[in-house]
Amino acid sequence: MSEPLEDTIPRTIGLVGAGTMGRGIAEIAACAGLEVSLVEISAAVRNSAVEVLRRSLSRGIAKGRVSAASPDEILCRIRWHDSLAPLAGCQFIIEAVPEQEHLKRQVLTDLDRVCGRETVLATNTSSISITRLAAATGRPGQVVGMHFFNPVPVMEPVEVVRGLQTTQSVVDCTVALAKRLGKQPLIVKDQPGFVVNRILLPLINEAAFVLQEGTADAATIDELMRLGCNHPMGPLQLADFVGLDVCLSILRVLHGELGDPKYRPCPLLTQLVDAGRLGRKTGWGFFKYT
Ligand code: CAA
Repeated sequence: MSEPLEDTIPRTIGLVGAGTMGRGIAEIAACAGLEVSLVEISAAVRNSAVEVLRRSLSRGIAKGRVSAASPDEILCRIRWHDSLAPLAGCQFIIEAVPEQEHLKRQVLTDLDRVCGRETVLATNTSSISITRLAAATGRPGQVVGMHFFNPVPVMEPVEVVRGLQTTQSVVDCTVALAKRLGKQPLIVKDQPGFVVNRILLPLINEAAFVLQEGTADAATIDELMRLGCNHPMGPLQLADFVGLDVCLSILRVLHGELGDPKYRPCPLLTQLVDAGRLGRKTGWGFFKYT
């Protein structure tokens, strides 16, 4: 009889996407001593990810949070690829491509074709139905949500999302891996936005409405929420941090799937995204960044 999955946390994990979330997951996995096979098709994203990882690791080493003599000691555990084929032998793969359903479905379908039958396919989606994504594969029992929070090296929880057909051993394995990565896994059901984004996005959206209505300017709204609610960041700064395009796509999922008008995206948020003002990553969202 084969060993239960949770007793055999793989030494190598596969990752798809080296954007903010993917490179953060790569960092904590490599720091935890795992080998990482990371697929990123864009050379520009890959180059910038390596630089960000090097800076983050240097800071971690200087502060004593990361035990290594140099960033290279950690970075050498990350192998970079520009296609999915090298992930064929991985037992556990996390996709962290942009939050667009057609893209995630395509990646999962391709991984399903490339990988061995035992491989678990996890998705870091922040709101898309795990059950629906799983249906893009021939292994719905082995598809699970593994939702990390930004910045990945700092934020403790991971939402482990059980799709309709996700098996218990896959949930157990995901929980064990999250713990191995130093995170606190919390298991939730597959509902739009899961738990955190179901609650967080209406807060961000409401802050955008308050700004749109002219009740206060962006800095005042954020200052009041920071001081009045003791939040580490105001909601508008947090939206810029997460990415306004990501916020909008989560709101569209909540609005479309729950059908309640309270989730309708604020027109100002939509306009900012249309204008290409996506937040920190483009240097301008609700606030400007230098
Ligand atoms: N990568 C790695 N480490 C980082 C980091 C990053 N991007 N940003 C900050 N840190 C580390 C710093 O090195 C520092 O660590 P040490 O204490 O060991 O030095 C620590 O975090 C605190 O950083 P700072 O002192 O520079 O700044 P801060 O006190 O203002 O904290 C913050 C920064 C941790 C980001 C804090 O502002 C915060 O917690 N903000 C809220 C973040 C949040 O809510 N995230 C969830 C977003 S929702 C989401 O991600 C889900 C989704 O699907 C949309």
